[in-house]
Amino acid sequence: MVMEPAEILESLVASLRTRGVTTGVIVRRHQLDELGQPGPRWDDDQPASLERVLIHLLQEYARYLGHLDIYTELVEGDVGDDSFATFGIVTFVATTPKKTTKPSPTRPRPTIRSRPTPEELREMNQRCTRFLAGVGRRDVSTLLATIPSDSQIDVYGNGGVVEQLENEVARRLGKEAALFMISGTMAQQAVLRIHADRRNRRSVIFHPKCHLDVREERAYERLHQLVAVTCGPATMPLTSEQLTSVGEPVAAVLIELPQRDLGGTLPEWDELVAQVVWARDNGAATHMDGARLWEAAPYYEATASKSIVDIAELFDSVYVSFYKGLGAIAGCCVASDRATIEELKLWRVRHGGRAYGLWPYAASALTALQLRGNRFGEYYQRAQQIARTLRRIDGIEILPYPVQSPMMHVRVSGPCDTVIARMLDIARKDGIWMFSGAYEVEGPTLQRFEFNVGDATMEFTIKEISELFQRMVVTSRR
Ligand SMILES: Cc1ncc(COP(=O)(O)O)c(C=O)c1O
Repeated sequence: MVMEPAEILESLVASLRTRGVTTGVIVRRHQLDELGQPGPRWDDDQPASLERVLIHLLQEYARYLGHLDIYTELVEGDVGDDSFATFGIVTFVATTPKKTTKPSPTRPRPTIRSRPTPEELREMNQRCTRFLAGVGRRDVSTLLATIPSDSQIDVYGNGGVVEQLENEVARRLGKEAALFMISGTMAQQAVLRIHADRRNRRSVIFHPKCHLDVREERAYERLHQLVAVTCGPATMPLTSEQLTSVGEPVAAVLIELPQRDLGGTLPEWDELVAQVVWARDNGAATHMDGARLWEAAPYYEATASKSIVDIAELFDSVYVSFYKGLGAIAGCCVASDRATIEELKLWRVRHGGRAYGLWPYAASALTALQLRGNRFGEYYQRAQQIARTLRRIDGIEILPYPVQSPMMHVRVSGPCDTVIARMLDIARKDGIWMFSGAYEVEGPTLQRFEFNVGDATMEFTIKEISELFQRMVVTSRR
């Protein structure tokens, strides 16, 4: 058959179908041993029986499928009968996900070769029925369900559920007061500005991977004329020893607990105290980026018998987030002494953060805090079990190990496209959404995922989780 330039997939498939119907009609009209009339290209002595013609047809199809298999093997080194799916031909055809397809731990699943579009990803995510990480599905209905209909509204951040939330956060952290703000980005800049103005200094110390420095368009510098003093290497947690090398007067030391970009690492209690003591001795304020403080607390409870109040007490100001481990819509609180919070209110206005109504966010945050605020010990324990199991898999590495919080980085060996494709294959076939993508490509054959253990993770057995990761990893033995 000759393909014309105007030929498209639909016309080819339609033509194949028409030929199939015609062939069926012919086959049904004859006996298998009937001999055919040889055409001009037939070079055998004997005319062929219908049976021989049909077997020849079957051989031809098998040969082309074999070619496809060879292409597949050349491209990605996989073999076997999943070739069509592996080659990406059928992988994006919409199918209803099967809920309980058992993965095979030994055999890699078929993968998708081409990158899906954001729309396809969204569709795949929406079709999933189970979510491996964090709080699970985040959509309008699950988030709206976190706003009780009897919530009291605020006016410009005053009263109602906003005040209720602020009181609850202050109580939980043992601080005099707290202020709700719509983003940690706004909150941390504002509170550092206050610490700097009070000390008449502009420099702030933080780790090179600090959110302020890498994800906020340098707003601390552009809006507040603060100067960054990054301390220590990006790949290691901050230490009190590194602080001693800082030779200039600083307004504040920002400590992130746990350090997200290092897989949720935490300094040991004595080391943390040493960092705070250095700051105090040098006239600097201590500010905690506690976006995930809820996640950090169980470690200090377990290793140093210190409560979340003990941790917060080390700091002049503490920022905590409501939408990460807690899973609310968005927003955060800064907890501190009353005078700092009063001043922060002015900065909330200046930053444009005093919206007429903040109650939907605050109500959602309060629900999430009540629902999950006391569950991080369980998540941490489960994270430890998961980490122990996953690190036994060939081609998987866990950072940090042992884990120090309910979060970890899982390093998966394999080319980025293949690993992602396998993950999406799990989504399509099993209806399980693992992560939102490669967190960081660490090299041509190593991908790093941030794995937050939360409510959704607790629905999986350790064995299931282990099998899922075995399906993602690409090792030389496969
Ligand atoms: C460690 C850390 N600090 C601060 C922020 C800023 O929070 P927000 O998104 O509320 O501005 C984030 C957000 O991801 C974060 O991970």
